[in-house]
Amino acid sequence: MTDKESLDRVGGPEKVAGTATYSAEYHLKNLAHAILVTSIIAKGEITGIETRQAEKAPGVLVVLTHLNSPEIPGNPKAVQPAGRAAVGTAFRLFHDHYIYFNGQPVALVVAETPEKARYAASLIEVTYQAEQHATDFEANISHAALPVNIQRSQNSPFKDYERGNPGAIVQAEVKIEATYTIPTQHHQPLEPHATIAVWEGDDKLTVYDKNQGVKSTQGNLAQAFKLKRENVKVVSKYIGGAFGSGIRVWPHTVAAALAAKHLKRPVKLVLGREQMFTSVGYRPYTIQKLAIGADRNGKLVAMVHEGTGQTSQYEEHLERTILATRALYACPNVATKYRLLNLDVNTPTWMRGPGDATGMFALESALDELSYAVGIDPLELRLRNYAEMDHERNLPWSAKSLRKCYETAAEAFGWKNRAAAPGSMKHKGMLTGYGMASSLYGFHRHPAQAKAILNRDGTLVVQSATMDIGPGTGTAMTRIAAGRLGISSSKIRFDLGSSDLPDAPGQNGSSTIPSVGSAVYAACESLKNKLLTLAAAMPGSPFQHVITEQVLFKNGQMLLEKETSTAISLSEILEHHNLQQVDAQEDSRSGAERDKYSMYSFGCHFVEVQVNPLTGEVRVTRAVTCADVGKIINHKTARSQAIGGLVGGIGMALMEASVMDHRFGRYVTSDFATYHIPVHADIPQMDVFFIDEADQHVNAIGAKGLGEIAIVGVAAAVANAVFHATGKRIRELPITPDKLV
Ligand code: MOS
Repeated sequence: MTDKESLDRVGGPEKVAGTATYSAEYHLKNLAHAILVTSIIAKGEITGIETRQAEKAPGVLVVLTHLNSPEIPGNPKAVQPAGRAAVGTAFRLFHDHYIYFNGQPVALVVAETPEKARYAASLIEVTYQAEQHATDFEANISHAALPVNIQRSQNSPFKDYERGNPGAIVQAEVKIEATYTIPTQHHQPLEPHATIAVWEGDDKLTVYDKNQGVKSTQGNLAQAFKLKRENVKVVSKYIGGAFGSGIRVWPHTVAAALAAKHLKRPVKLVLGREQMFTSVGYRPYTIQKLAIGADRNGKLVAMVHEGTGQTSQYEEHLERTILATRALYACPNVATKYRLLNLDVNTPTWMRGPGDATGMFALESALDELSYAVGIDPLELRLRNYAEMDHERNLPWSAKSLRKCYETAAEAFGWKNRAAAPGSMKHKGMLTGYGMASSLYGFHRHPAQAKAILNRDGTLVVQSATMDIGPGTGTAMTRIAAGRLGISSSKIRFDLGSSDLPDAPGQNGSSTIPSVGSAVYAACESLKNKLLTLAAAMPGSPFQHVITEQVLFKNGQMLLEKETSTAISLSEILEHHNLQQVDAQEDSRSGAERDKYSMYSFGCHFVEVQVNPLTGEVRVTRAVTCADVGKIINHKTARSQAIGGLVGGIGMALMEASVMDHRFGRYVTSDFATYHIPVHADIPQMDVFFIDEADQHVNAIGAKGLGEIAIVGVAAAVANAVFHATGKRIRELPITPDKLV
């Protein structure tokens, strides 16, 4: 498939024209505006909140704090043990006077306009009894421990893992041992998180909310406010990027619902950019120690990988940091350990390629270091350790064309022109570096439903409560439906982003096409069966005694495969039966194949950098990526997604770092002037390739996930290119000029 044969992005024109309605843009009558006031200390207690000036300010409707906040029914104050929250408990909004992190919500001001709310918020005076806080990850890492959740779990993948004899590393002919550091990084989508909450009576809640899962948000809000699930409606139709920040329900959404219930009028709450750094999670600070033993031919003997990430004092956020090391290469002896450090910070969350992008930076940097130690080309080294099966689970791959990915990308990139020695390639006074890295990402498929409705006029509506945080979900689903039913995509509408629709998982873990795509496929197949039954029931029908496999669906018609001149239009079938519409809803989930095969997406990235030897400035000048994610549903949007991953990876490699002033436990990078992400001028020409072969074992459409694998190995590829250009191995991201001069 090519870009030309692809569908243009569904909803694209609406976004460009400004007619797409984002969560903060619903104009409800009588809408009140809320703003969060947040803590300026990292740990301690609130000793007083003076709200009287704020309450008297013009247009103010209410000020909520832990002193006067209505109870959150699902989280009653009476049944909670007094004192600080224990590890493993969710954050409790306006629950008591304890402070767990700098930026914690301590009050909510609601007023007639956003400006009035903001002014009143400035009048609130909070006094604190501060306690000694710990926010510095590196300074406190000796306190890291095995997470309680892992200790309690029977079969957590994060438990300490060993295969073979990891001690064999001691005798290995060549040894690489290094520490790799990733700073805290924040997802900063252009659209900030926002909620509009509106109640109907005391038991019906609707929220227009930026999130990545309308059904999970519905469930969480139903729990928080003790409502019947069906009495909570969540709408999230257009999303201006999320990257993981919307996977869970955060306190601001609950705050908006709480205030709306109290005031009996709709309330809107939009996070300010600075609040986006303390309210919706982040990629956690992580330090990894990785030791690799190999023989002189580069064959891996043993790998020992220990990863430690940060989390809050009250919750444990776990990441897949060390998991890839067990699966990516053929290595007989492997040990991994995962630890967490609780700090006085807010809880991190998943950020594109969570854990995997972190772990792969260490693993693929270390492999690159090994390539120089043994004097073998980095790509050749990876081929020598190619895993023909999953040695962790001792299973065959469902499909794996990583070798083809390497070949395709290396050829397009011109890898063979690479001079082996670091610092030996120059271009107009710049040091040129070629770097590469592999990537893999686990396959995730969750139960999902979809409904397909054929109207008498020949148009099709397909529905599922899935999301589109940017990849173009509607585009891909339209394409799947068009392919199954032979209906022109211009006659298909795909509905998503509302909890009223058939059940679907949130958009996370690159699971949407495998999960929801499979459900759309199943619903369309089911609709075909219904249409065939209806057609067969028509007098003298040539479709009697015919099974679905003998029928084609093309151009809005049903045809006999053996005799394509025998056709009937789908509209005609409905007309004959005097039906306005025919619909089919299906449930789709994975089966026993999960136990027979190991399922992953695979890929690789090749990057060229130019480094200014005087200033240490790094420019990515070319990038080529190739992914094996099974069947590509729509090339154009898939390509965009792969490019987005490269851009995110370049940001991760060269720019993104959330810097905290540990005197206050507060981020000093809390806007786009100080938290740098790539802009157009930072991004070069990029070439994207897909293997585009169906994986027969994952689902009927043969498609795996693409969203995460697009970023997973990028930071390592950039770091490896920087080493090749300069001979300097940077093991701490981001690779800023100060580290190179
Ligand atoms: Mo992704 S971090 O699962 O949005």
